[in-house]
Amino acid sequence: MNNTFDFVVFGGLGDLSIRKLLPALYRGERDNVFSADTRILLVAREDKKKAAIMRIVQEGLKEHLKEGEYETDCWQRFSQRLHYAGVDLKQCDERWQLINKHLDDHPDRIRVFYLATPPSLYADICDNLEVNQLITSATRIVLEKPLGYDHASATEINAKVAEHFDEADIYRIDHYLGKETVQNLLTLRFGNAMFEPLWDNKLIEHIQITIAESVGLEGRAGFYDNVGALRDMVQNHLLQLLCLIAMEPPTKLDAHNIRAEKLKVLQALRRIDKRNVDEDTVRGRYTSGVVNAVPVPGYQEELGEKGADSQTETYVALKAHIDNWRWSGVPFYLRTGKRLEKRFAEIVIQYRPVSHRVFDESAGAMQPNRLVIRLQPDEGIRLTLMTKELHRRGIRMRPSTLNLDFSNQYDRASDAYLRLILDVVEGNQALFAQREEVECAWAWIDPIIDAWHSQGTPPQPYPAGSRGPAEVDQRLHNGELPWFV
Ligand code: BG6
Repeated sequence: MNNTFDFVVFGGLGDLSIRKLLPALYRGERDNVFSADTRILLVAREDKKKAAIMRIVQEGLKEHLKEGEYETDCWQRFSQRLHYAGVDLKQCDERWQLINKHLDDHPDRIRVFYLATPPSLYADICDNLEVNQLITSATRIVLEKPLGYDHASATEINAKVAEHFDEADIYRIDHYLGKETVQNLLTLRFGNAMFEPLWDNKLIEHIQITIAESVGLEGRAGFYDNVGALRDMVQNHLLQLLCLIAMEPPTKLDAHNIRAEKLKVLQALRRIDKRNVDEDTVRGRYTSGVVNAVPVPGYQEELGEKGADSQTETYVALKAHIDNWRWSGVPFYLRTGKRLEKRFAEIVIQYRPVSHRVFDESAGAMQPNRLVIRLQPDEGIRLTLMTKELHRRGIRMRPSTLNLDFSNQYDRASDAYLRLILDVVEGNQALFAQREEVECAWAWIDPIIDAWHSQGTPPQPYPAGSRGPAEVDQRLHNGELPWFV
């Protein structure tokens, strides 16, 4: 890999940069994955001296790195690579030349522009990059999610970016695809002969994908209240996971083939609109409660003055159907929310009961098989099988679990953002969404939002620290859906 590159973060002092990107890059420094010449340029509106910027970054790292990760030596090295340019991204003025000044000495080097700004700025940034002749033949652009606000705005942004960049140089990032176990899911499915024949509606009863968070707004009220859980998490992270689970085996695990298969899944999603929105969706919003033994305010209180008028959901549960040969009749339950009981992300493949019971009653109850793919916090894969209780005459059954615990196998947690950034540098688009995928995902999301609005569906209250609105299991599933298996 050519690991000398110039990495430019627009929105360099923003929430995403401080919370995720800079810690990821710092981990790259720690792991020695960058050459000595690699440079990182933070671009933000603030007109501050470099020392003040460095203090902000350093404080941010101390706050957001895991315990024990911050080391003075590593910071010393990392800070040598950091540069700063104060530019108003909306204006086309001479301050843009500050970026040229930093980059012009190496026009041939791989150049990554990372747009960690609200999507409303993407068009201006692209125009300004072009006007200021910053786009070289070795330039790649990374677009953060959510890409747009709905189908129309996403299409407009994609069209705008395409005026300046070829699709081959555009990386639409979804950091969930950089998580270790997400990639392990591909290995599990396509690296083993035994799973694919068991991967369809004949044996699978339903699939659940849950991303539960215990955090609330984390100071992002301005962003979040305009967006909500459906746009923030389902349109991208959950649908991307759904695609990887449900897609047909690609001919090769490369960008072209993976993306083509993912797109087919999105195209086969059954529409949810005002006819079925009540049966197939639940939206919720947290009220005050206790999370991890700490009392926390409700969403509306956290929002302050604007809280009373807000109708934004902080939780959503959906029953999705993929109308194709493989998945016909298999519901996919998607759930995500903030301020829930605990933080975890998990995919559960629930198998059907055996077709015929051969054991007599004394053998006890049987549980259908279940494959659980845990993405976080403890990455791993578990398969529950029925076995016999040992040291007993006669058969008495009990569920036993085959447990692949990956969290014990690494001495250091890997970083999803770092992995994806390195893929950008390498020019590997396999784990990035193509234009049609993003637009297709929005085309599925829009009618849900329209139906909620036209029916005035209010978010159901759930206490912070709970598992979300009580009615989810009954309404969507007609029975309890497992939680943190
Ligand atoms: C982001 C969302 O994309 O993902 C946040 O905007 C959310 O609201 C975050 O908190 C969750 O990511 P992770 O990796 O912490 O599960």
